[in-house]
Amino acid sequence: MNQATVSAASTESELASWRQHCTMLQTDFFANRALIIAANRGPVTFTLAEDGNLQIERGAGGLVTALTGLARHVDATWIACAQTEADVEWRDGRVPFDDGSAMRVRFLAPDAAAYDGYYNVIANPLLWFLQHSMWDVPRAPVIDRATWAAWEEGYVAVNRLFADAIAEEVRASALPTLVMLQDYHLYLAPRFLRDRLRPRERPITLHFVHIPWPGPEYWRILPPAMRQAILDGLCAVDVLGFQTRDDGLNFIRTCQTHLPRAYANYRQSRVWYRNHATHVRDFPISIDVAALRQLARSPEVAQYRADIQDLVGKRQLVLRIDRMEPSKNIVRGFQAFDELLELYPEHRECVVFLALLVPSRLGVDEYQNYLDELMAAAGRVNARYGTSEWEPVRVLVGDSYPRSVAASQLYDVLLVNAIADGMNLVAKEGPIVNRHHGALVLSESAGARQQLEPGALVISPCDVYATAQALHQALTMPRRERQERAQRLRWIIEREDIAAWLCAQLEAITKLKL
Ligand code: G6P
Repeated sequence: MNQATVSAASTESELASWRQHCTMLQTDFFANRALIIAANRGPVTFTLAEDGNLQIERGAGGLVTALTGLARHVDATWIACAQTEADVEWRDGRVPFDDGSAMRVRFLAPDAAAYDGYYNVIANPLLWFLQHSMWDVPRAPVIDRATWAAWEEGYVAVNRLFADAIAEEVRASALPTLVMLQDYHLYLAPRFLRDRLRPRERPITLHFVHIPWPGPEYWRILPPAMRQAILDGLCAVDVLGFQTRDDGLNFIRTCQTHLPRAYANYRQSRVWYRNHATHVRDFPISIDVAALRQLARSPEVAQYRADIQDLVGKRQLVLRIDRMEPSKNIVRGFQAFDELLELYPEHRECVVFLALLVPSRLGVDEYQNYLDELMAAAGRVNARYGTSEWEPVRVLVGDSYPRSVAASQLYDVLLVNAIADGMNLVAKEGPIVNRHHGALVLSESAGARQQLEPGALVISPCDVYATAQALHQALTMPRRERQERAQRLRWIIEREDIAAWLCAQLEAITKLKL
């Protein structure tokens, strides 16, 4: 069946029956099971208001929506690191959500030095930069005594804290448990957990890695003791989920190369190690389409939309929305825009490039420096081409999700040119809310490429010249082609939303009869 020609009616009925299937699967799956989620961040953070009252702020993003949505079906506990003083004070209580469900949230409180080593030295930048292939290897990373201390007293210690807390919860539960671990902060916890529990106490464990997994060559950056501990940790889980097939394959290859006595089975997509099978699968994460559409209709978004429309006027809009993050390749994005204006002067005064950037991890030096670089790159374009009537690049720094949604409604071209990205949810949000049949220029190294390639203009992220050509193609694309591509993107994203991500994981466990 050609995706582009499926009629709306058949899509909708297909979607409806598929959604029903997912709901039934969740209900059946959790009829006799409890759920523990472990992630660096919790689903909520608490703050103490001036009047002494405790305020709850729900974490943004699809992951929180998807996993807290499960609280409707199952007795669930979320274990995370405390982010605020008030989190530390919170004692394991149930947190109510808007839909009437509730979940127990248990915050761990490692001391400040341990958390700093775990988060600011090992997870970000060491592992993050490695997995996004961003180290400038002749110069960095330098793994010195301080890094080793951060590993032992930070990363190892915090992973042990998680394992202890999970083991306690598993033992306390009257029901068999599924443990869902999230991401690169918790690579060691599964092994510690397995070692703490007797075989008959062991839960089903599923670890989902949200970021890319590079090939074995790149893992040589880490000393053998660190990379083996990471692989050993992950080979203690039953199901290991990645964003794409390539990431999963890379993991199996990494075990084959770097984990002595591991047996890689490519055909069955699993690794045998220490008498245990880890099944490797890809579960591309996505967005909550219905919730996003609802937000897009809100008065708050309408207000931002009017402001952005004023800023853009009658010009075309090239948009990017990112955390302020070196892997997002923001500087080359501005260089490509510069190249576009040079090669195709007809776009001068007719296009605005709006970059909405959310501050991120400013405690890590590499992020601080990147902010300076990208502001300088935007400034160069403006100095070269700007006129009294036209500022070619506009950078807005801040964290307003409604403003991002409003801008997404208005773009003609959405630029996602990450050097490497686990998925990139901006590439999925944009096409859902956009009102202009806008085009998507998408990096071949974003996980989203695996699904969105049929509708996107795919570029190689280091190739500034090709990115400029793609921007030109997108800005001048015939209306009919724009519409067809935009419709194709919407169709793919609607079918494979955040519920599908969850459903695929439960289905994998069910099929494996774990
Ligand atoms: C990426 C990672 C997530 C992480 C997020 C924000 O998307 O895949 O695991 O939560 O960045 O990072 P932060 O360091 O602010 O939690």
